[in-house]
Amino acid sequence: MEEKLQRLKTLLAESADLAHAAALLEWDQQVNMPEGGTRSRSEQLSTLQRLAHERFTADEVGQLLEDLQPYAEQLDPDSMDARLLYVTGRDYKKRTKVPASLVAEFTETASRAQQVWARARANDDFAAFAPHLQRIVELRREYAALFAPYDHVYDALLDDFEPGVKTADVQAVFDALRPQQVELIKAIGERPQVDDSFLYGKFDEQRQWDFGVEVLTKVGYDWKRGRQDKSAHPFTTSFGNDDVRITTRVDTGFFNSAFFATLHEGGHALYEQGIADEFSRTPLQNAASLAFHESQSRMWENLVGRSRPFWEYFFPRLQEVFPAQFGNLSLDAFYKGINKVEPSLIRVEADEATYNLHIMLRLEIEIGLMDGSMQVKDLPEIWNTRMREYLGVVPPNDAQGVLQDVHWSGGMIGYFSTYALGNVISAQLWEKILEDIPDLDEQMRQGKFDALLAWVREKIHRHGAKYEPKDLLQRVTGSAMDPAPYMRYLKSKFGEIYGL
Ligand code: CO
Repeated sequence: MEEKLQRLKTLLAESADLAHAAALLEWDQQVNMPEGGTRSRSEQLSTLQRLAHERFTADEVGQLLEDLQPYAEQLDPDSMDARLLYVTGRDYKKRTKVPASLVAEFTETASRAQQVWARARANDDFAAFAPHLQRIVELRREYAALFAPYDHVYDALLDDFEPGVKTADVQAVFDALRPQQVELIKAIGERPQVDDSFLYGKFDEQRQWDFGVEVLTKVGYDWKRGRQDKSAHPFTTSFGNDDVRITTRVDTGFFNSAFFATLHEGGHALYEQGIADEFSRTPLQNAASLAFHESQSRMWENLVGRSRPFWEYFFPRLQEVFPAQFGNLSLDAFYKGINKVEPSLIRVEADEATYNLHIMLRLEIEIGLMDGSMQVKDLPEIWNTRMREYLGVVPPNDAQGVLQDVHWSGGMIGYFSTYALGNVISAQLWEKILEDIPDLDEQMRQGKFDALLAWVREKIHRHGAKYEPKDLLQRVTGSAMDPAPYMRYLKSKFGEIYGL
């Protein structure tokens, strides 16, 4: 049995190496590659990805998993090998269930749809995109049908990003959040708006970059096992826990853009750098789920990086870096400015209080498309009606409405809710963290983040994908997914800022 386990680990390691090599090529494409490289790069990527997939879904892997079943049952269910066999078996079953013809048609449809979407958005032409979206929905329904019987047709899509989480779980959380968030935003809208004009102006690029690096270093990002570069869209990528890279972009006219993106991606990277060494080159060397990943990026970006104690430490330093912009500004004004709440049209620019509502709208549409209660042609109207209802704003055109995100054109249905669940989980973890580190605010005021990082390392990061998200959350917080901590956080923070 030991031999069979070793053989399985070898095959998984080769698959992981191939996937990491592909990820490195993708990183290079976003960061360094000259424009002319596109064609040969996409050929190289598709070869590597195919080889990684073939290695992972090989008949031999299936046979080894079957042979190792009795062995797995004797192991401590909490041991690394027991969990490795479980997670590998789960992923193997999912990935081998999908016929190659469906994968090929889906990939081709999505790749064409993405090009059409880019044009449709530029021309504000939803009708041009609609038939492509329709085809994507049909193919996603075919995919979901492979996993019947299910509680909900959307479950299979969600499961690709949040293993074990059901549509009903997400709906319960969102149904509880929606009315409370809508009410909070209304109340904020009736108060005098805070000023954030000082965040716009002229901010030297190198100084922004250096300040971001200084803060990342302080919170514990390990530069010996990572680096930061520039790309059009900030992202984090990992080739193993000893090489986890981030990117950012710099807007010389707006302070928030680079700084908070840097901290957000830094949060993702701290997670990946913290996964246990023993999980290297296995399917356990991943985050528990996308929502858990996002809980970490949001924690550093918002719960830490938009908190008053954080800036009590860093604001004097920021004033030295940008004396003309911030030299005469009070900490209080700065804190309120970076936390300004304003319902807006574009999800990626949304503040903490309004963000989840953008997500809920998308989830409702995805579920409606999958269960057939909504039709593609009606989406612009549905979109605009709900934007008015939830956020009180209506897009003047579809480019700033239903066409704004790339996800659906790429076939990524099921992804959006992980952003909002990440917020919810981050607040649940935060309440637990404050119980265990009661003087955390004081530590942050002194620029100390080591106890906080050690906590998330111990409770979350090191476990990688060993536990499924619901199980991990239960182990760490003793509770299921619960929107109450997030609402408490929003109400207390914005209640203070806006005097509610
Ligand atoms: Co993120």
